[in-house]
Amino acid sequence: MADFIQIKLCRICHSPKLIEFFSLGVMPPPNLFPKNHPRNLKRESFYPLDVCLCQNCGLVQLKHTVNPNIMFKDYIYVTSGSKTMVNHFEGLAKDIMGRIKTSSEPLIVDIGSNDGTLLEQFLKYKVKALGVDPAKNLAKLAKSKGIETIASYFNQITSQKIKSKFGKAKVITATNVLAHVGNLHDFLEAVENLLDTDGIFVAEFPYLIDLLDKNAIDTIYHEHLSYFSIKPLLLLFGMHNLEIFDVERLNVHGGSIRLLVSHRQKTDKHNGVNKLLKLEESFGLNKPETYHNFAKKAYSKRQKLTNFLNSLKSKNCRIVGYGAAAKGNVLLNFTNIGKETIEYIVDSTPQKQGRLTPGTHIPIFPEAKLLEDMPDYTLILAWNFADEILKKNSQYRKQGGKFILTVPDIKIV
Ligand code: TMP
Repeated sequence: MADFIQIKLCRICHSPKLIEFFSLGVMPPPNLFPKNHPRNLKRESFYPLDVCLCQNCGLVQLKHTVNPNIMFKDYIYVTSGSKTMVNHFEGLAKDIMGRIKTSSEPLIVDIGSNDGTLLEQFLKYKVKALGVDPAKNLAKLAKSKGIETIASYFNQITSQKIKSKFGKAKVITATNVLAHVGNLHDFLEAVENLLDTDGIFVAEFPYLIDLLDKNAIDTIYHEHLSYFSIKPLLLLFGMHNLEIFDVERLNVHGGSIRLLVSHRQKTDKHNGVNKLLKLEESFGLNKPETYHNFAKKAYSKRQKLTNFLNSLKSKNCRIVGYGAAAKGNVLLNFTNIGKETIEYIVDSTPQKQGRLTPGTHIPIFPEAKLLEDMPDYTLILAWNFADEILKKNSQYRKQGGKFILTVPDIKIV
């Protein structure tokens, strides 16, 4: 595959009726942090980031697909870095284990298993756990914790191999994975093939309504090819004899949904589905104006944020960033804010420390630097973890440091 391709047809219904409504320009994939060396900086590649709506089925999606090997073969984001996510996964494992019909050592397969954080929660129960993740570095990390992991993409070939070796899965989880998948049809065929007759497929991903409602521009990035709502997903799952039987809205990642999916049951027990379909209709998800309005607000927010930071700079205030999150990198590239405004960023991930932010080349340091250095303002880039970050930095605030939030609106805390 080339480094990136432009799609001509919708990723779900294959209609050519795609209308572009928003462009964030060109930028590097937001999880590729270059080392601070001229050779690495020269090699950085920039790809277009344009969003469109399928007028036929309603799927919001990126107009281009960047070769997944560029983004996922060596992955820097580690799930266990956030307490919020560890707690969230504890709840997920508990909920699902309460739902499955017991069998001795049911097989739980986690797709996009990262460092095994979710499977560790399932392993508190008597289960057989298997992770699948294309990032070799993460698979190695998970294995070092004793979690069996296949370093591969999940597709029909992987699914067949798993089935032959371990049998069918009682539970398949894919948290923050589906939006990353280019070939949704191959992926769901693979799920359908591996899922036991009474098994549950759990999918979690950011919800389009939350993105639009919070004007969470920076959750749009090359890794996220689809921005899902329920309506196009019903069509997609139906095409693969799968059925959503429960849906729940979640707070994680700035507003997500959790779907519970089974083989087609032909019952009308679809908890929460109709309610969300009605909400999507009244929100105007099927109307192009909704998306054009979102884009207008996004461009004006960009202007507001740069004006705000420039006004602080003109008063000689020092500003740094908190959390070298993927979304933070999107925001910085979209607003063209660099080292002249943000001196450095602190982040808890050891692999990110010492590196630079993609595109904007802001240096990254451990979190402790914030209190040692006491800059006047700290822009929270990992805003989905704002509560956790505010709580752990109460001393910085007591000593006069101020945090800036950008979602849903620009606000000083
Ligand atoms: P993400 O939004 O792409 O998942 O990245 C969140 C980043 O925020 C990740 O690099 C870790 C960082 N982080 C901190 O530095 N301190 C914290 O307390 C939390 C919760 C996250």
